[in-house]
Amino acid sequence: MSKCAILGGTPVRKEAIPWTSTMGPEETAAVVEVMNSGCLSAFLANSGEKFLGGPKVREIEEAFCKRFGSKHAISVNSATTGLHTAVAACGVGPGDEVLVSPYTMVASASAILMNCGVPIFVDIDPDTYTMDPAQIERWITPRTKAILTVNIFGLPSDLPKIMEIAKKHGLYVIEDNAQAPGATVNGREAGTIADIGVFSLNYHKVIHSGEGGILLTDNDELARKCQLIRNHGEVALDEQGDMDTVALGSNIRMSELHAAIGIEQLKKLDGFLASRRALADQITEGFKKRPGFTPVTVPEGFTHSYYMYPVKFDKNVWGMSRETFANAMKAEGFPLGTGYVKPIYLMNLYKHKRVFNETTYPFAFIDTPTQEYGKGLCPVVERMHDEELLTADICRIPYTAKDIDDFFTAIDKIWEEREAIAK
Ligand SMILES: Cc1ncc(COP(=O)(O)O)c(C=O)c1O
Repeated sequence: MSKCAILGGTPVRKEAIPWTSTMGPEETAAVVEVMNSGCLSAFLANSGEKFLGGPKVREIEEAFCKRFGSKHAISVNSATTGLHTAVAACGVGPGDEVLVSPYTMVASASAILMNCGVPIFVDIDPDTYTMDPAQIERWITPRTKAILTVNIFGLPSDLPKIMEIAKKHGLYVIEDNAQAPGATVNGREAGTIADIGVFSLNYHKVIHSGEGGILLTDNDELARKCQLIRNHGEVALDEQGDMDTVALGSNIRMSELHAAIGIEQLKKLDGFLASRRALADQITEGFKKRPGFTPVTVPEGFTHSYYMYPVKFDKNVWGMSRETFANAMKAEGFPLGTGYVKPIYLMNLYKHKRVFNETTYPFAFIDTPTQEYGKGLCPVVERMHDEELLTADICRIPYTAKDIDDFFTAIDKIWEEREAIAK
């Protein structure tokens, strides 16, 4: 075996495989068709027939309903704005609390703040990295309105348990399913189990249209609210003389071009997932044969979509820090993530409670805070982020079985020379 690259040897792979677009001739043809039609968006912000958008927007919504078995789909221009819409549709307002995982992309929590709600962070399960249902009830107060759970890395949250708790306390549940299209729980699609599911179509996701998002719900009233919020709904409500519905809208609309691309990508989802899952199985087997790793956990009855492959690293077995290992892997052409996004409550905006201006709204709506944001609030998240978790973005196209073999060749080289590397 050749010497490790970090010790001056030849790397297994000269360069890491860059992010590769999954666009094909189908997406190009779909865009050209829209361009030739001249209709790049058909939305109008009034209660007329254009309130719900043009042909491609309606087509992508129908396609999502069909693929995921949902009654309603509402296309939006990102999952970030989709989460904002979902939280607003659930009636979250000033001082309402929403339980959320702190181990996620920041948009999951900012959607709550944008509605002047207060995020309450619930620790994660140390094996699945999703919200730990056993930690939920301790944070429920009379102010709690909803639970926003994140299907992180592609694994659905423990939705059967979360839905049971929510039902008991009369709470809405929103699934942030940006990373887990096509994952399932007991045969049910992630993103359709809670009251509203939010999908992302941003450039780095399993399927994408550059930017975009889709909301799914079976609830007629929530669907209507989402449609109103997406398209300056106060105008339509005013025209209809509706004094009862509360919905401050915005422009959260998807263009016909983005919808056309998304339609083609959705057709490819199951093929992409088959390839991701085959590589993930190979990775799991590889980790099982080697010391010092705990491969991904997929609970009985769940399937994973492997947006990323998470693995726990045991620094005691390896005799080196996780960071040293990751540096050695990077030198071999396989960059790894150490941890994930910093626990959200440790970010400055949360620590200093400065959201909109010099005031501390929305936190100032509450006299006795339910939670103090600071180190130690969610010990499992902090341990995963600071010490144990590695994430590998190697299930995506164009990675192949041979690349995964090379990945483990790199690991084996580092293992052989671990003492020299650790010095
Ligand atoms: C878990 C999660 N939620 C929300 C988002 C936001 O998605 P978008 O970029 O479509 O706004 C992302 C994107 O990275 C994500 O990973």
